[in-house]
Amino acid sequence: MRRSLIDILDLSIDELNELMDVAVDIADNPNKYNDSCKGKILATLFFEPSTRTRFSFEAAMYELGGQVIGFSDAKNSSVSKGESIADTAKTISCYADIIAMRHPLAGAPLVAAQSASVPVINAGDGGHCHPTQTLADLLTIRREKGGFDNLVVGFCGDLKYGRTVHSLITALARYKGIKIVLISPEELKLPFYVKRELDLKGVSYRETNDLENALGELDILYMTRVQKERFASIEEYERLKDCYILNEQKMKFAKPDTCILHPLPRVNEISVAIDNDPRACYFKQVLNGKYMRMALILKLLSEDKPVDQLDYLSRCEKVEIKGAVCSNPKCITQTEQELGQSFKLVDKEYNIHRCVYCEKKVR
Ligand code: NCD
Repeated sequence: MRRSLIDILDLSIDELNELMDVAVDIADNPNKYNDSCKGKILATLFFEPSTRTRFSFEAAMYELGGQVIGFSDAKNSSVSKGESIADTAKTISCYADIIAMRHPLAGAPLVAAQSASVPVINAGDGGHCHPTQTLADLLTIRREKGGFDNLVVGFCGDLKYGRTVHSLITALARYKGIKIVLISPEELKLPFYVKRELDLKGVSYRETNDLENALGELDILYMTRVQKERFASIEEYERLKDCYILNEQKMKFAKPDTCILHPLPRVNEISVAIDNDPRACYFKQVLNGKYMRMALILKLLSEDKPVDQLDYLSRCEKVEIKGAVCSNPKCITQTEQELGQSFKLVDKEYNIHRCVYCEKKVR
């Protein structure tokens, strides 16, 4: 196995700083990096739709002088014939030096990383996490605000299924004096396992459904799309889809230097008129994402020694629970042949265990 990026906590604060420094250097001196990945191949295995993330990885590799293979639709891969993620990862390791994988089921990139002999990057797994979007978000925040300490960051919209929200909150919880405001309807509240990261790090946060009221205190507002594809019922999606729309009228409540972020794609949650507001930073975020992915590819390819354990798994206190089965229909354990169940102890006091792949609580 090689060092992979499965979860944003796989990178230390120092490593994040180092990646951001490299990304800025790439932005300032692109020619310096033209040949850095000459002869190297990136495989993009996208089992779920994507515009930004896939093109961003591909552009990143081309700009480093490398090449790209891959697919953007699972129908074009042998998975449609019933091949497992583990076998796909072993196979692709024979053709590529590094893999970026997106999958609708939580935990799929972790399964791939356990079988691949090249680094695997999680490019979004179901409604779980999306660490490379966090890299884009962090660089944008650092460039706009000069750092992270003491920022008041609001997250608005679909905090339940929004994987970019889960990863960014987890990353921000490590900085000093951060305050988080969670703005969502009751039905789309942040999952408990992410709130726990905030509790563990002693981060102050509050939950509200009132965007207008919260706006005035925010240094950063992270808007999100309601994640239609993750809803079990279309009626519920229809009911919630327009829950927040940031328009010029609402922007009057924001501070003069509030930075508006969005991982994109946007549906209607930010009115197009706001794009010209100097506080709108979501297209800068896209460009920053490419530089961060370039820095990440360089880093993972330079760490050429095999590892015994993935960073993510080394943080899990794995436990055997006889007969227990993950009940999350969107977990990779539901479809991956012979993967077996794997649980971690997350709370000793209350004896709470969660699935290693998707964080679903074991009942
Ligand atoms: C996000 C994703 O795929 O989770 N998009 C992205 O990667 N920039 C957000 C979304 O789809 O809403």
